[in-house]
Amino acid sequence: MTNPSIHFDLLIRGGTVIDGTKAPRFVADIGVTDGHIVRIGDLSSATAEQVLDASGFIVCPGFIDSHTHDDQAVLSHGSMPYKVSQGVTTVVAGNCGISAAPLRAGMDLPMPLSLLDSPAEGRFTTFAAYLDALRATPSSVNVAAMVGHSTLRALTMSDMDRPASETEIVAMRDHVEEAMQAGAIGLSTGTFYAPAMKATTREIIEVGRPLTSHKALYVAHMRDESDRVMEALEETFEIGRALEVPVVVSHHKVMHKGNFGRTQLTLPFIREAMKHQCVSLDCYPYTAGSTMIRTDRGMLDGRVLIASSEPHPECAGRDLADIAAEWGVPREEAARRMQPGSAIYFIMDEDDVQRVLAFDETMIGSDGIPLGEKPHPRLWGTFPRILGHYSRDIGLFPLETAVWKMTGLTARNFGLHGRGTLKPGQHADLVIFDAINVRDAASYESPDKPAEGIATVIVNGAITWQRGAHTGARNGQVITRQERAKT
Ligand code: ZN
Ligand code: CU
Repeated sequence: MTNPSIHFDLLIRGGTVIDGTKAPRFVADIGVTDGHIVRIGDLSSATAEQVLDASGFIVCPGFIDSHTHDDQAVLSHGSMPYKVSQGVTTVVAGNCGISAAPLRAGMDLPMPLSLLDSPAEGRFTTFAAYLDALRATPSSVNVAAMVGHSTLRALTMSDMDRPASETEIVAMRDHVEEAMQAGAIGLSTGTFYAPAMKATTREIIEVGRPLTSHKALYVAHMRDESDRVMEALEETFEIGRALEVPVVVSHHKVMHKGNFGRTQLTLPFIREAMKHQCVSLDCYPYTAGSTMIRTDRGMLDGRVLIASSEPHPECAGRDLADIAAEWGVPREEAARRMQPGSAIYFIMDEDDVQRVLAFDETMIGSDGIPLGEKPHPRLWGTFPRILGHYSRDIGLFPLETAVWKMTGLTARNFGLHGRGTLKPGQHADLVIFDAINVRDAASYESPDKPAEGIATVIVNGAITWQRGAHTGARNGQVITRQERAKT
C-alpha cells in the first residue's frame, strides 16, 4: 500500500539500516511521525517536515547504555552531552546497589552512594516521586531505573556493618514493592561495597521477593570479581533461581594479575547457567575500572588515577603514585587523605576484556560516573569505542553484532518494550553514524572529548545531537517495567 502523498514529521533518506536484530544491513528510507517509526523502505515519493540525507551513513536504533549511574544527572544536568554525543538514547540507571530513591532529606550518604551526587535537599522519599520528577523535567535521554539495595540499607539500617534484621528486611522489602509499583525495572545490589558487604544471600532474596510477581530483574555488582569470582557468580545465580527472575551480571570482569585469564572459566560457567535460568551480562570496553577512592591493597596495587577528590580537587587527573611521593606518604595514606572521591584503577587484562565483549550475550554498558573533571573516558567513549576500535579496527565482531549488543539485546534483556530495534511502531530512537570514521576521542588524559563520526542522534523523534552539537532537545521518556519479551 504505497501512498504517493504520504507525509512524515521526519524522513531519513538513503541510509544503510542496521536494525538492531543482528540481521545484515540494507539500504532504506525511514519515515518518523509522532515520535514513532512509521515506515521503513523505499519512501522516495514521500514528503516530510524535515528530511535528513543519510546516504553513506549507518542508521541504527539509539544505543541503550545498560549500565549507568546517571540517576541524579538526568535531573540536575539533563542535557546529558556525554551520552547523546556517543549515540546513547536510553540509560539504565540504579546500578551497583545505588539509586537516587528512596532517600531521606539530610541523611548521610556513605561511599559509594555519594557517587550519585544527590543534593541534600529535595531528595525523593519514594521511587514514585523520583519517576514523577523525571517525567516533569525530561532529560535528553530515556531513563529506565532500578532501586538499589545499598540505598535501602542506608535508609533503613542504623548500622550497615552487619546483616539486616527481620524488621529491617521487611522495611526494605516494602520499599522494593513501592519501587516496583512505581515502575522500577529491577533491584540492584553492590555487595562488593562496604554498605552491603555484610548482607547475606538470604537477606537479598528476602528483600527482593517483590521482584517475582512484578517480573522484574535482579542486577548484581557481585561480591567478588577477583579470587572468588566463581563463588560470586554462583551466589548471583542462586538469588535469580530463588526469586525466579532474570539476573544481570554487571560489568563482568576479573580483576588483579593473579586472575588474568579466568574469563576462560567464568564465561563457560555463565553459559552453562543460561541453560537453566535467565542470565545476561554487561561489559565496558576498557582495562581500567573506576569507582570511589579505596584504600585496600588489591585496588592500589596497579596504576591508579585520581578522577575526583572532595578535599583535594587539584589532584584530579594525577597518578596516585606521584601524589604519594610528593606528600611523602604511602599510597594508602595518600588515598585516604583524598577521600571522598573517585579514581580509575588499571586492574584488568585486555584478553579478558575482549573475551567478555565477544561473548554472544554480552551487552555494552558504560558504567560511566558523571562526576569530577577527569572521569573515566568510558563516560564519553564507550559506544564509539566498540563500533570503531573493537568492531572495525580489530574485527572482534561484525558491525551488526556490535549494534545488537548495544540495542536489541539490551532492550530484550531489560524488557524495554518498543525500543532497541528498527521496525514500524517502535519509538523513534535513532543514531546516524559514519562507520568509516566513528571512533572514541575520550582518553584518560582528556576524558571529556565527544566521539567522532556520530552524525545525528534522535530521541523519540526529536533531533537531539547533530553536526557535533547538542540541539537542546529534551525529549527523553521514563521507561517503566514491561513484561519481558519471550526469548
Ligand atoms: Zn558496579
Ligand atoms: Cu556501576
